[in-house]
Parts: sequence; C-alpha cells; structure tokens
Amino acid sequence: MNILGISAYYHDSAAALIRDTEIVAAAQEERFTRKKHDASFPINAIRYCLAEGGVGKNELDAVAFYDKPISKFARILETHFSVAPRGLRSFMMALPIWIKEKLWIPLDIENALDADGIGFTGEMFFPEHHESHAASAFFTSPFDRAAILTMDGVGEWATSAIGRGAGNQMDILQDLHFPHSLGLLYSAFTYFTGFRVNSGEYKLMGLAPYGEPKYAKLIRERLLDLRDDGSFRLNMDYFGYLDLLTMTNSRFADLFGGPPRRPEAEITQREMDIARSIQDVT
Ligand SMILES: [Fe+2]
Repeated sequence: MNILGISAYYHDSAAALIRDTEIVAAAQEERFTRKKHDASFPINAIRYCLAEGGVGKNELDAVAFYDKPISKFARILETHFSVAPRGLRSFMMALPIWIKEKLWIPLDIENALDADGIGFTGEMFFPEHHESHAASAFFTSPFDRAAILTMDGVGEWATSAIGRGAGNQMDILQDLHFPHSLGLLYSAFTYFTGFRVNSGEYKLMGLAPYGEPKYAKLIRERLLDLRDDGSFRLNMDYFGYLDLLTMTNSRFADLFGGPPRRPEAEITQREMDIARSIQDVT
C-alpha cells in the first residue's frame, strides 16, 4: 500500500511516501525551490517521493494531509470574532490567502496528481494536526506501547496533547487549546528578541547559554499560569497574536524593559538573559 503524506501552506512544506510500514522517501519543498521555509504546495517534494518509490499510474492508494484545513479556518474566524473589532486588520490580511489557496487543498492535491499522470482515485485523509504529530512520534518509535506527548505552536485548536499508542492504534486522550500554547509562548520571545517566528527559534535557543535566567520568575508570575496537573494558561494581556499583527504588545515590552530588539540590531545582554529565562521556563 502506497500512502503519500503532505504538509503545506504554513511553513516548511513537505511530502513523504510510506509503503506498508516503511518510510520510502521524504523531503522538504525548500530543498528543491531553494526558498527557506517554503510554504507552497510541495509539488517538487511529491514528485521526488513518488519517483523514489517507483509509484506508477494508479498505484497511489491514499493521501494524507497534515491537518484539517476547515477546522483551522474555523479557529481563525472564531478567534477574530472573539476580539472583534480589534482583530479586523489581521483578519483582513489572513482572509485572501484562505479564500485563494487554503480551502482548496483537496482539489490542489487531486489536480497536482492528475497533472503528473498519477491519476489518484484513492481516499484522502485529513487527520487532526496533533494526531499527525503523535503518529509521526509513535509509529516511528521502537515501542509497541507508549504514552505520547505532543507540543507545538498551534494546529486547528490543540496546542499540546497527550495520548496513548499500542501496536498500530493510537488515541489522543486530552489536549490544551489555543491561545494557550507553549510553542507560541516561545515564538513570542523569538519575535521579541528580534528573530523571525517559525524560523529563528533555534537562534533564541542558541542564545540561552550566554545569559542568566533573570526574567524566569517574572515570566512564571506574569505570563504563565502553570497548574498542578501540568496544564497551563497564558495571560493574554501581554500577547498580540489574537488582535494585533505581532506576537507581543506594549505591556509585554514594559515587563522586559523596553521595545523588542529590531531585527539585525546588535544583540545585547538583555536578549541573552531573556533567551535563558524562557529556556528555563520552557
Ligand atoms: Fe505542529
């Protein structure tokens, strides 16, 4: 059985081909287009995977996309309405791309495979985003049974999930929902220290050993409500991603002694200490 997995339209588009139980090929689109973090439909990565696996006409049995586009769109609509009219500008910026591209994903996939003569008539799957994360962790692990923990920025609604895997089965048991997200918290600090979100997180992490955890207590007290069961909530008074076009707002800047570092400006001890602090908290 040949299964093609696709992720696209967010960051680092990619494709993978699984035959029965083995990963035959996998690639990120940026490797072919030479555009860092390329988020476009990964037609080149798909072609590579199918060629590498020698998949011919009508030999592709199933396609799986990495999330549920409609649920994600619903989350974006609901989020903007919940803070209306404050979020209008960011909503107006997000809408065209959804209308133009993201809601047509099943058609995109069919068209791309048709154009390449693969002629796909099999079933298309849209697992939840954290099911995709959990599957990629558990099914590639050496364990027959395992507890599964996934944490990211955000998929549809979930931002962290716990689940259980056994054999070829897997269940998500509980999850935390947007806007409360460990990944977005880390991305907020990535933005604040002058790096690009969904890209510069590695740089922020690399900066951490040069600093002291001066702000760790402040982060725990003001930004984060960590519960005894390990769940948490973010204090949205300090973040801009619900209603502004930025990750953090002026109240956040006041907490950390001034505005965010401008991209490419000199990195100071403050950024290093912030990096170390959010690393400790995370
Ligand atoms: Fe994710």
